[in-house]
Amino acid sequence: MGDRTRLKANHLISLHDLSGEDFHGLLDLAARVKIAPSSFADALAGKSLGMIFEKSSTRTRVSFEVGMFQLGGQALFLSSRDIQLGRGEPISDTAKVLSRYVHGVMARTFAHQTVVELARHGSVPVINGLTDDLHPCQALADYFTLSEIFGGAGELKGRKIAYIGDGNNMAHSLMHGAPKVGMDIAVASPKGYQVRDSYLASAREDAAAAGTRVEVTDDPEAAASGASCVYTDVWASMGQEEEARERVRAFESFTVDGAIMARAESDAVFLHCLPAHRGEEVAAEVADGAQSRIFDQAENRLHAQKAIMIELIG
Ligand code: CP
Ligand code: NVA
Repeated sequence: MGDRTRLKANHLISLHDLSGEDFHGLLDLAARVKIAPSSFADALAGKSLGMIFEKSSTRTRVSFEVGMFQLGGQALFLSSRDIQLGRGEPISDTAKVLSRYVHGVMARTFAHQTVVELARHGSVPVINGLTDDLHPCQALADYFTLSEIFGGAGELKGRKIAYIGDGNNMAHSLMHGAPKVGMDIAVASPKGYQVRDSYLASAREDAAAAGTRVEVTDDPEAAASGASCVYTDVWASMGQEEEARERVRAFESFTVDGAIMARAESDAVFLHCLPAHRGEEVAAEVADGAQSRIFDQAENRLHAQKAIMIELIG
């Protein structure tokens, strides 16, 4: 399973917790797992992963479940509607009990604090499969995708990623990841929907150490200017369904369309974590156009998730 030292962190809750070396180690392992999956067929033999879901999922659920199977282990889908957590069993008891059965827990929750508490009270690694605040597994897979597109992680240095849309979990994790690969990031969101100050501050700490820039603006064209990647996400995340109409109005001029893509570099690619709403945050001609890499990006969740599980649970 390679010769690098293991991740210094015991959990994957935020990309901010990873050193640059850890981050590059995961990108490198994801590439090796993708090229030679059979070499890792027994990497997690006899191990089980409990997967708690308070929210819906296609990619995260399937990539972790299939990934665990391909590594020789077992994944258990635990909807919060079906386990006692959903009926009020304390998070701390759930964490302690699951730690007696499984070798790792992946959780997708509303409150970020739920994932933090699972890690605090349990004794097995906890992987953040998305909270209201962060989506580190997606962002890691996204920088893996960009490293493939531009010819290696080392080739990302000095490039810029533009995130255009809601200052949400995706924006926060992309801001944390960019400095790890030496990229600048510009986040364009309407006023009132910008990234959270605390996450901006932690991203800027990482950027200062890496000598990169994290810029926040309300001008999508300025953000896209000179970018190698233009990224967007839904305007209303899971749990914000009731705000959807008002958000469509607020984000009116933030659709990633051909004009926005034209501001980016000529070799720029379009990424979206999915699910996408064509005609809202992205024009159909961009999502399904020549610069789009959204399905390679979705596939790479599998390889990146396998790398995370091998590092944390193996
Ligand atoms: N991108 C992502 O996390 O997708 P799912 O919500 O389908 O898991
Ligand atoms: N920001 C979106 C991401 C979905 C993968 C959400 O939280 O719903």
